[in-house]
Amino acid sequence: MKYERSIIITGGAGFIGSHVVRLFVRKYPTYRIINLDKLTYAGNLANLKDIENCPNYVFEKSDICDYETVRKLVSGYDVTGIIHLAAESHVDRSILDPFTFARTNVLGTLTLLQAAREYWEPSGWEGKRFYHISTDEVYGALELTRPEGDPSSEECGGGPYGDEFFTEETKYQPHSPYSAAKASSDHFVRAYHDTYGMPTVITNCSNNYGPYQFPEKLIPLFINNIRQRKPLPVYGKGENVRDWLYVEDHARAIDLVFHEGKAGETYNIGGFNEWKNIDLIKVLIKTADRLLGRPEGADDDLITFVTDRKGHDLRYAIDSTKLKEELGWEPSLQFEEGIEKTVRWYLDNQEWLDEVTSGDYLRYYDRMYGGR
Ligand code: NAD
Ligand code: TYD
Repeated sequence: MKYERSIIITGGAGFIGSHVVRLFVRKYPTYRIINLDKLTYAGNLANLKDIENCPNYVFEKSDICDYETVRKLVSGYDVTGIIHLAAESHVDRSILDPFTFARTNVLGTLTLLQAAREYWEPSGWEGKRFYHISTDEVYGALELTRPEGDPSSEECGGGPYGDEFFTEETKYQPHSPYSAAKASSDHFVRAYHDTYGMPTVITNCSNNYGPYQFPEKLIPLFINNIRQRKPLPVYGKGENVRDWLYVEDHARAIDLVFHEGKAGETYNIGGFNEWKNIDLIKVLIKTADRLLGRPEGADDDLITFVTDRKGHDLRYAIDSTKLKEELGWEPSLQFEEGIEKTVRWYLDNQEWLDEVTSGDYLRYYDRMYGGR
């Protein structure tokens, strides 16, 4: 079959990437979707079981830092678009091992940019697109000016925990090795636009939640621990604030920005949905206990306050007005509905949880692809 275009999605076996791959494979049967993923501990082909046999889907196990391989894939598939999600993504790991984050997030992004440039530039930039998926964490942290929270402040244009939001104009001020590496990769993407004229676009999104997230991040880790009645390690006093977005709403935004975003632009993506960690954790316990048929309050004593994360950013809150006004995107799911769906999904997919925490999923690749 002759495809309309070929697109590489990097990190497609990870949490957000798997939702993006699924959306594109199903929605665009005339596109060939190439999932380029190294399958680190966070990459899991079981996330894509439902679409792995679709004719327009290809999996390539490769490292984004391997220039020769990336170059061959871009030219071999005549790729005209790259949606780049592959990254090391967990802040706690970046505190322990910053070099891996610099290698994958910075050098990996640069490798992709250069390989794309080498193939695209000679025939002109028309019809090409390099889309880099970034995070709100590059902007640093916001003040918590209303620690007790005041939902009525939202009517006056503020957030429940503070007046300020991250906008596309907010100065970069990353604090963790993870966000420093992501910030650096964002700068390289802009440099390729400004220097070579590459049609790039960047989005900076807030915390995502939903199915297929590796259970080292807050929401899946805590659901998994509640189900097993293990302690829930709350960093510090649990007063840090995060702005949560359902992962499928992020995937829809990515589809929109890939097709309609303006080259050279940056768009923030977020749900105007701030939660203090401890309050979110209480919702998780209540929802999980109800779905597990346990009495209300049965697992409240699992909450265990532990030493705070080093350099723990206090508050993230994204202003996504630009994306709404220019491209018409809005989150579709209310948080209560999203959390219910998410808790239910993890409880219904305990096999997946057990597999990814046992390492069995690494062997799944060998079963599927015969060690290719
Ligand atoms: P994830 O950790 O779940 O998945 C990352 C994927 O990248 C994995 O499949 C992994 O195997 C792959 N990968 C890692 N190193 C690679 C390499 N060298 N070569 C090829 N593949 C490699 O991450 P996620 O949470 O899905 O995040 C995806 C992207 O979205 C990241 O760029 C992240 O910075 C960004 N982001 C995440 C969030 C969030 O809340 N999770 C929010 C905003 C932005
Ligand atoms: P996380 O899911 O790691 O995302 P990020 O650090 O990128 O925001 O953490 C979300 C919040 O939850 C963050 O404030 C740290 C906190 N947290 C805990 O309190 N305990 C935990 O075990 C984890 C993983 C996170």
